[in-house]
Amino acid sequence: MKVTVVGAGAVGASCAEYIAIKNFASEVVLLDIKEGYAEGKAMDLMQCASLNGFDTKITGVTNDYSKTAGSDIAVITSGIPRKPGMTREELIGINAGIVKTVSSSLIQHSPNVIMIVVSNPMDTMTYLVHKTTDLPKHRIIGMGGALDSARFKYRLAEAMQAPISDIDGMVIGGHSDTGMVPLASHATRNSINVSEYLSEERLQQVVEDTKVGGATLTKLLGTSAWYAPGAAVSALVQAIACDQKKMFPCSTYLEGEYDLNDICIGVPVILGRNGIERIVDVPLSDAEKAKMQESAEGVKKTNGLLEV
Ligand SMILES: NC(=O)c1ccc[n+]([C@@H]2O[C@H](COP(=O)([O-])OP(=O)(O)OC[C@H]3O[C@@H](n4cnc5c(N)ncnc54)[C@H](O)[C@@H]3O)[C@@H](O)[C@H]2O)c1
Repeated sequence: MKVTVVGAGAVGASCAEYIAIKNFASEVVLLDIKEGYAEGKAMDLMQCASLNGFDTKITGVTNDYSKTAGSDIAVITSGIPRKPGMTREELIGINAGIVKTVSSSLIQHSPNVIMIVVSNPMDTMTYLVHKTTDLPKHRIIGMGGALDSARFKYRLAEAMQAPISDIDGMVIGGHSDTGMVPLASHATRNSINVSEYLSEERLQQVVEDTKVGGATLTKLLGTSAWYAPGAAVSALVQAIACDQKKMFPCSTYLEGEYDLNDICIGVPVILGRNGIERIVDVPLSDAEKAKMQESAEGVKKTNGLLEV
């Protein structure tokens, strides 16, 4: 199993590290445009191998796509992250050009690749890959919901003073401060609905904290987060590589599902060796359906800024 990660920055390197530590891929290629940067990160990560007990071979390359040839999975993290006070949508000008060039270069050398898009604004970048390449839709996956769901579970566990392993919950919709739809009505602690433990007011606070999870960290760190984003990407890569048939909310191209068309947005999907193997139809309340439509309007507005 060969995995390429484009962008050896904070998220790309974190993702490569988690993939290696989980020890399921034979090879990870890190590629960056900055001279020597990916080579340095790869060498540093390889020097963890004996300490962390993995055999995954990590190599770094400067913008040489021939070294990515034959990749089964490629992750796109190249682009600029947001600074405090910025929205993800403000990154579109620079990141659209980068994602377009990177995706076509990857496909040239790995025509059968399954692509995971991470660069922001992620739903629009996923749509861009859909519109500008001829990859089938099940091989274009946007990562956002897996991270947002992890943040939702963190906030729920914190509010209930419960271990996170007791918590289940999911965030669908657009990967933006206003577009996320945390499914509080479906969230549970050991199969008991979280509303049994939390007041309506406290649950609403959890939902709001989840939606600004990324912005909160950006304010604290001065740039966007990388550990949980890297872990979330590695979980998707593992689900595909190991054919796990796991369910994650991912951004995918919709043709009528959730009453939405011609958009990439977060919905629950089953991930396996073929990429997105199925879109899962979760029953939503009327309020959740309305929020999903509102979220889609926001994503479509950002898509309208693309020149495709
Ligand atoms: N979808 C998500 O949930 C999520 C989460 C966190 C971050 N992000 C996004 O991921 C992206 C990366 O964030 P980061 O914190 O790792 O940023 P970073 O600045 O640390 O790393 C980005 C890397 O991309 C490289 N790069 C730029 N243009 C390139 C090109 N044309 N080819 C190859 N490499 C190129 C840069 O040299 C840099 O090393 C940002 O757009 C950020 O907003 C998304």
